[in-house]
Amino acid sequence: MTATQREGATQREGASQREGASQREAVVILDFGSQYSQLIARRVRELEVYCELIPYNAPLEQITRLNPLGYILSGGPASVYETGAPHLPDFILTTKKPVLGICYGMQLLTYHLGGQVNPSSEREYGPAEIELLDPSHVPLFSDAEITTSKLAAWMSHGDRITRLPSGFRALAQSKNSPYAAIGNPERGLYGLQFHPEVTHTPQGKALLRAFLYQVCGCHGGWTPGNFIAESIAQIQAQVGQGKVVCGLSGGVDSSVVAALLHRAIGDQLTCIFVNNGLMRQNEPAQVAQTFEKEMHARLAAIDATEDFLSALAGVTDPEAKRKIIGEKFVRIFEAEARKLGQVDFLAQGTLYPDVIESATPPLTPPASGGGAREGLAAKIKTHHNVGGLPDDMHFELVEPLRYLFKDEARAVGEALGLPKEIVWRHPFPGPGLAVRLLGEITWERLETLRAADAIFIEELWAADWYHRTSQAFAVLLPVQTVGVMGDYRTYGNVIAIRAVTTDDFMTADWARLPEELLARISNRIVNEVSGVNRVVYDISSKPPATIEWE
Ligand code: XMP
Repeated sequence: MTATQREGATQREGASQREGASQREAVVILDFGSQYSQLIARRVRELEVYCELIPYNAPLEQITRLNPLGYILSGGPASVYETGAPHLPDFILTTKKPVLGICYGMQLLTYHLGGQVNPSSEREYGPAEIELLDPSHVPLFSDAEITTSKLAAWMSHGDRITRLPSGFRALAQSKNSPYAAIGNPERGLYGLQFHPEVTHTPQGKALLRAFLYQVCGCHGGWTPGNFIAESIAQIQAQVGQGKVVCGLSGGVDSSVVAALLHRAIGDQLTCIFVNNGLMRQNEPAQVAQTFEKEMHARLAAIDATEDFLSALAGVTDPEAKRKIIGEKFVRIFEAEARKLGQVDFLAQGTLYPDVIESATPPLTPPASGGGAREGLAAKIKTHHNVGGLPDDMHFELVEPLRYLFKDEARAVGEALGLPKEIVWRHPFPGPGLAVRLLGEITWERLETLRAADAIFIEELWAADWYHRTSQAFAVLLPVQTVGVMGDYRTYGNVIAIRAVTTDDFMTADWARLPEELLARISNRIVNEVSGVNRVVYDISSKPPATIEWE
């Protein structure tokens, strides 16, 4: 991203974030690069408290606009005493608000408040038993679910605290950590050496609940119903009497956005469905049908297949594909909008993981070996509805789901009364089959991929496995392999099939599909899809792979 692009993106985000700012109660999680940072955010939201995960070095205004009731400092891969290690922002030391430091977050707090942190000879990783000390006098341990002083906890740290800052005391210990939990309860400052956000710490959620409700004084109520009411008010405030176009793909995110906007602004909204030629078998007709049946907003359906395919001809680089597609979409929306008169806003179903995973990497690379996830998540791929938009786009963005995780967007969809077939549909990426067709995009290759994908999905439904996977699809590889069919040598295409299970799409495991089902899928694909002589099953988890292949 160039400086101008970054500025453009920031302005657009600024616009939607400004509108997103509200008086709702919130907690801020400062991200120091832990692989579990998003998990902390999810847990807090599950506890019905709104939170945002913000890089530790973000501008202060990004934090103060939320007027947080408390702060959680995430873990991270660095060591506090290393040069260039992510530092604790000054305001944390002077804030009168409660702070909970987790792992690296606790070490940072200790270090900056005058305590001492040292490397330990061995990394402590895995399950541990911790013993709470005098729990009845510690608000952090006051949740009703904490009924015993011995808790199972998940540790993952190399450094350890060797001297506490003044005013702090040990609140829990383990065999290897005399300071498994520390605190200055009078000031609402706490540190946990273990990770309360992971399921391997069974009472972790109870500890977080106590921090949010007993220590920070949160009241809760972050629920889909409240979210809908708040979003409607925000959308109305942002849009006023203006007109909005909404790119509709037929998936859950854009459908939820369309339904929410329609509730908020009625016929000021026009949905635009673009058939870009990169959709799955029969999908354009299905989307139009479902929209007509279930939604009541205006719809403009456009067939732009030729336009997209000619722009993508000869392009093989995945990021280039995304940029081209993102730009094309916007140009088509602009052209359609011109037909509607003055339209100032484009609504889209950007989700929080899209925002996090499309983040621009820190300008200065971490010196501390913090790796890809220091402070800001490293850019993994440009999800086209976030980073792939042209700079000179003529719309201001309306992105009501920008701070929601997928399961939260689904809960909102259900609360809005959308049918299950939309809410529980597997996600489909904005750039469509372009990122599942590795190499060059041609109509013939698209048709091969569509046919294989349709067989795969049909068999998943037939075996009652569709809803036991979170996302499933076929990928056409850019290689040819030798096969034998009848008595003849073939040199044909390879289809990879991918099925994953995940809650949040940030991490995922490959689905353990039954062998007979895999055999049937493979058999049908090589027999029914001409030009394919090999099928492989992708058994990679995310990380280290991503869900899509590009
Ligand atoms: P990855 O491949 O990053 O995918 O593990 C995580 C989830 O995001 C979807 N995805 C996209 N969605 N535009 C989108 O709207 C994109 O460019 C894009 N890339 C991936 C993916 O299908 C999965 O659900």
